[in-house]
Amino acid sequence: MKFDTVPLSSALAAEVRGPDLSQPLDPTTVAALRAAWLEHKVLVFRDQRLDVEAQARFASYFGPASHTQAPDARSRKHDPDRRVLLITNLREDGRPIGFLPDGELQFHSDSAFLERPLMATVLYAVEVTDRGGETLFANACMACAALDPGLRARLEGRRAFNVYDYTTQVKSGTLDRAGLPQAVHPVIRTHPETGAQAIYVNRLMTEEILDMPPAESAAILETLFAAIERPEFVYEHVWREGDLIIWDNRCTQHARRDFPGDQTRLMRRIGIAGDVPV
Ligand code: OGA
Ligand code: MN
Repeated sequence: MKFDTVPLSSALAAEVRGPDLSQPLDPTTVAALRAAWLEHKVLVFRDQRLDVEAQARFASYFGPASHTQAPDARSRKHDPDRRVLLITNLREDGRPIGFLPDGELQFHSDSAFLERPLMATVLYAVEVTDRGGETLFANACMACAALDPGLRARLEGRRAFNVYDYTTQVKSGTLDRAGLPQAVHPVIRTHPETGAQAIYVNRLMTEEILDMPPAESAAILETLFAAIERPEFVYEHVWREGDLIIWDNRCTQHARRDFPGDQTRLMRRIGIAGDVPV
């Protein structure tokens, strides 16, 4: 089937018009979508009516679903499918039934604290607030290419320590590493399919660049986080119910704006398994 690809910003992201993802796609269309995805890094499909099976089928065109999206089974009762994670502020007896429940979320790449982080994430909007909760996507390749050449040289071969506490959405200070999932990854990673280099440290999860004086590590990390957040490298998505977005965690980062806590926001997430970053 034919589809149109409409760029959503000068940095990254495109809307795909045409496909009805509640139906299977033919291999030619899948190949074309994959190519468009590698080019634009974030694809947006609007007005979709998708159950879990349809969303999982779409995700499978890009790779196998991850079953290791989260450390505990908080959302299992509500969505027992191991592939699915609910991103929602819905609560039962005062406890969130899903993950990332409230408001702002700092820039990050999904599961950078795991040895094998998610390659991609497929997020479907079931219920959205009437304002706020926009998701910001940053092109980490553009941010990398814009770095000062001297800094790029200083970062050659460097690795960084990533750690995450699932209850943290906006980090202040350092996280207590004990008992939390953690992984060391390159500061700059190379995309295995496109060969493009991207900044792979993030404000939410990266604590330090290894083998470097702490003050220098902190200063460089702030420079790298600020590069990701430059408005000209960012696309801001205003969600509507029925939106489906697939993003590439190998070359983008994302963040979320605050939203009213007295309105329901319910997103269904399927992660796609990835390799060890290099
Ligand atoms: C995620 C995430 C952002 C959002 O699901 O990994 O970061 O807008 N979600 O809810
Ligand atoms: Mn995320």
